[in-house]
Amino acid sequence: MKTRHWIAILDFGSQYSQLIARRVREQHVYSELIRYNTSAAELKKRKPSGLILSGGPASVFENGAPHPDPAIFQLGIPILGICYGMQLTAHLLGGKVKPGHAREFGHAGINILDKKSLFKGLPANLKVWMSHGDQVEVMPDGFHPIAKTGTCPIAAMGDDRRKIYGLQFHPEVVHTPKGAEILRHFVFDICKCPGDWEMAQFIRESVKAIRKQVGSGHVICGLSGGVDSSVVAALLHKAIGKQLHCIFVDNGVLRHGESAQVEDTFGKAFNIDLRVADAQKLFLDNLKGVTDPEKKRKVIGKTFIDVFAEEARKQKDAKFLAQGTLYPDVIESFSPLGGPSVTIKSHHNVGGLPPDLKFKLIEPLRELFKDEVRELGRQLGVPDHIVDRQPFPGPGLAVRILGEVTAERVALLQKADLRVQEEIEKLPNHKAIWQSFAVLLPVQSVGVMGDCRTYENVVALRIVESMDGMTADWFRVPYEVLAKISNRIINEVRGVNRVVFDISSKPPATIEWE
Ligand code: XMP
Repeated sequence: MKTRHWIAILDFGSQYSQLIARRVREQHVYSELIRYNTSAAELKKRKPSGLILSGGPASVFENGAPHPDPAIFQLGIPILGICYGMQLTAHLLGGKVKPGHAREFGHAGINILDKKSLFKGLPANLKVWMSHGDQVEVMPDGFHPIAKTGTCPIAAMGDDRRKIYGLQFHPEVVHTPKGAEILRHFVFDICKCPGDWEMAQFIRESVKAIRKQVGSGHVICGLSGGVDSSVVAALLHKAIGKQLHCIFVDNGVLRHGESAQVEDTFGKAFNIDLRVADAQKLFLDNLKGVTDPEKKRKVIGKTFIDVFAEEARKQKDAKFLAQGTLYPDVIESFSPLGGPSVTIKSHHNVGGLPPDLKFKLIEPLRELFKDEVRELGRQLGVPDHIVDRQPFPGPGLAVRILGEVTAERVALLQKADLRVQEEIEKLPNHKAIWQSFAVLLPVQSVGVMGDCRTYENVVALRIVESMDGMTADWFRVPYEVLAKISNRIINEVRGVNRVVFDISSKPPATIEWE
């Protein structure tokens, strides 16, 4: 995405690189991560207003440590090196970096030595977050120290003439409370960005870029009903209208009413050319007798590809495939040292299409984070119930039905799950919940209903909070809400006589039961 003013972040592999981009965009300045070795010539063409060299796990001394094109320092574009980026700056401009024997990691206090540039208007002492081994010992000509710590005399350096700066600490993380202000000084005072970027501009630029890429061609988009594919479909529809053809595969293991909701929203309200492939029977047939979780995933993945490919072939003139790949998906398969190797997001299930289906990929969300995608979706008119949707696994309810997946067990779980959703949505803080769902266990337990003994199914409730799905904890659901869910499931869903609440964290448990 090219806008008139933007900040390029050369990504040297820090776990925080993506956060830098985000912090800059939060200041209404467009920012994008690019490969660390993007040539100076390419940068000159793309005209960023500033460059940020990210941190990274390497040491400038290592063999094969990633280096930028040294000519970037001659472009006259302001540069901010963060951590490894600062060490690279010093190393490549003739300074000296001291190899660290121990890694300094955690909170530190810095004393500001120069308040003219990055630290304008900030207190003399700042709390910052350090995470480094090496540090700059001798600055290159033209630089002076602008902050120090007790153990690091050059915690920040600057050359105001060339507008090149370095920070040994990480301004992008929340543990550096004034970090946003430091970045703001770089972006506004030093790079002179106007701060006029907003989502509406992203939409305008994306629409233009998509039209240019697609021309009069046709695009296929797999709609899953989830946030990412829904927003991609809405964006593509805005750009190319009837040249977009969406395919929704009803695999029979979706949540209650999901298929109808996708048809209503995208087929009817958006008037998108939408094909719903009703493959419920095929999926359930293929899942017959399968109880192993990984086998379920494989069967569903393969069946999905078969059904999707068959539908895609019907659109003979389609040359493009649109995907809702987000930045975290890109980064997962991105190795700064080995070069990017973007793979198709496996849980989008369109990876591994047969060789006769060769599409060019359109991935307009590649630079965005989830909450930015949600904001984009809202601005495109995607309804809140889709934009705010919880993550839902590609293999759907199949991995929430322990044991064999049958039509009856799917129907039972859908009913129980619907009760969970209805009650959870009433919680004022339900947006703090990452996922909430019901799981059908492969055990039966004894109960009593009226005067009769019952021997029926057990449903577990899984309600968790999480930042990214990597770790999670069970959500402290008020007792009365748990009681309501339990009562409703047992009274309203035939075949269930016991409800239990899962109070395990991840790790060691996982969010899904399979
Ligand atoms: P776990 O169970 O590993 O789940 O703690 C972490 C997150 O990933 C989702 N999940 C999946 N998503 N295909 C997907 O698209 C899958 O096979 C799959 N398995 C788990 C899960 O819902 C949670 O958000």
